[in-house]
Amino acid sequence: MKKAIYPGSFDPVTFGHQDMIIRSAAIVDELIVGVLNNSAKNSLFSVDERVSMLKELTKDIPNVTVDSFDGLLVDYMRERGATLIVRGLRAVTDFEYELQIAQTNHVENPAVETIFLTTNLQYSYLSSSVVREFAAYGGDISKFVPPQFIDRIYAKYNIKK
Ligand code: PNS
Repeated sequence: MKKAIYPGSFDPVTFGHQDMIIRSAAIVDELIVGVLNNSAKNSLFSVDERVSMLKELTKDIPNVTVDSFDGLLVDYMRERGATLIVRGLRAVTDFEYELQIAQTNHVENPAVETIFLTTNLQYSYLSSSVVREFAAYGGDISKFVPPQFIDRIYAKYNIKK
């Protein structure tokens, strides 16, 4: 039984995250999408809002659950009995940071392994920060995020479309 966690900020969730969730859920028995509750970071959406959007997005995938965590990922994984971390690699620029986190987590708990999925080429340019930047200036974000979230994102910037 492979229980994996796909951790992230998801502020907001993008088509790239959705693609990663669908593909990783197909290769593990159980996938927990773990939203980092980082109070130090000035996030656009509250952790509850992010969890609720991810729940909406994944409601039809039976082996996916959504949760939030704070503190260290390895501690949360011990709590949940998960041993696998899934992360997406968009480009070589992601690699150095991801390698460091993966190795640190493995040193902290040798039972924890990280697997990387290469992002679908279609979404390799995409990030939550790009979405926030576009939305802040009223740009078209329909190619970046699932349609049901578009109004909620613009609303954060008091933009009516
Ligand atoms: O979507 P992000 O912001 O790139 O996700 C980063 C995340 C949440 C995976 C990472 O910051 C994390 O695991 N944070 C929890 C704290 C932790 O365990 N840090 C140790 C990393 S060396």
